Amino acid sequence: MKQLKVMTVFGTRPEAIKMAPIVLALQQRPEKFVPVTVVTAQHREMLDQVLATFNITPDYDLNVMHQRQTLTDVTTNVLQGMGPVLEKERPDIMLVHGDTTTTLAASLAGFYHHVAVGHVEAGLRTWDKNAPYPEELNRQVTDDISDLYFAPTQLSKENLLKENHPEKNIYITGNTAIDALQHTVRAEHQVTGLPVIPEDHRLILLTMHRRENQGTPMERVFKAIRHVVETHPDVEVVYPVHLNPAVQEVAHKVFNGLDRVHLIEPLEVVDFHNLAAQSYFIMTDSGGVQEEAPALKKPVLVLRDVTERPEGVQAGTLRLVGTETAAVTGAMVDLLTNEDAYQQMATARNPYGDGHATDRILAAIQFYFNGGTRPVEFDSGLARK
Ligand code: UD1
Ligand code: UDP
Repeated sequence: MKQLKVMTVFGTRPEAIKMAPIVLALQQRPEKFVPVTVVTAQHREMLDQVLATFNITPDYDLNVMHQRQTLTDVTTNVLQGMGPVLEKERPDIMLVHGDTTTTLAASLAGFYHHVAVGHVEAGLRTWDKNAPYPEELNRQVTDDISDLYFAPTQLSKENLLKENHPEKNIYITGNTAIDALQHTVRAEHQVTGLPVIPEDHRLILLTMHRRENQGTPMERVFKAIRHVVETHPDVEVVYPVHLNPAVQEVAHKVFNGLDRVHLIEPLEVVDFHNLAAQSYFIMTDSGGVQEEAPALKKPVLVLRDVTERPEGVQAGTLRLVGTETAAVTGAMVDLLTNEDAYQQMATARNPYGDGHATDRILAAIQFYFNGGTRPVEFDSGLARK
């Protein structure tokens, strides 16, 4: 059987977390795969945290990040940087993940250099190119470029079929985010470096960074949180603030002087996952956190108007609350005071994966190149529409 050269390309924190299980699995199967790991470093510090945790040393590092970079900066630098790497390595397939600028530019480079592209987390859609901006367009274009599609759920497969992508090349795998949790969450893990939180206080974990939420929407949400903390003496909020200066500025402005809102540095991923597991509930506009929280049995208030991850809303574990102050306040108070509502969200089924997405992805790659039996797919257990 032919040994396959598989190049993984990623650049931001979430891509790294969700690609790490694939990188490690490729390294563990040298009889089948020759792995080549490329990071664009669209993120620097937040990427390096993940690489260190998973003990991954990239073969190539394009080191593109600079402060307040524009979409054009990242796109052009990744496109330029990938060319020589692809020409030197000539992989059988290159794997990209999700919907970042790295994803778009790297897959385009693959196309320009006639290298097959496999898209991990393919088929997520809002069908609104401005929400999330620019990620919705990034994933649509990446799916146009791709040759193999690793759709995390049945719904993401159906989205791909609506766009006429060939069914034989689409595999429902589950999301590798859930695979990553198998590496990180431990009952005995102690998160270090946190402020002391009294045992009888309830911890809300907050993350918010999305481009279309920066400015006024973010300020509205933070004001709601400020109000709830001021009126509920047992509530503590921990917010590992994204390093984007646009996010840092608003967070420090609105939460200034509140001693039960803890603004901390981005957490290393093992700490973040375990803190999520120890929280009362989670508020986020993050994509990855929407997938992880249901696996940890944590209710999530999603700080957006739409989500490309509606499976969690359907399963009852995510609630879309938008960014209006009154709506966010109402949803927080409901979860804090209505035990039935809380329990319903906390006990819903996780529809995003079973921890075996990586195995299915590698099996699909082998099937694509070497034939054999088509791999068995992931069943999220949600009723089809
Ligand atoms: C990017 C992705 C977004 C993803 C997010 C994950 C795009 C268009 N957006 O957005 O989909 O949800 O990553 O976090 O690809 N910075 C640092 N150090 C870091 C990381 C970021 O200083 O380790 C600062 C820099 O000033 C950088 C800025 O944050 O210029 C923005 O980073 P960028 O990757 O352009 O955008 P994100 O908002 O992080
Ligand atoms: N995460 C982390 N440390 C933090 C905040 C988040 O490791 O301080 C992890 C989180 O568990 C998830 C990923 O980062 O796996 C999500 O990244 P982000 O929210 O930046 O991006 P998105 O998923 O929205 O693209």
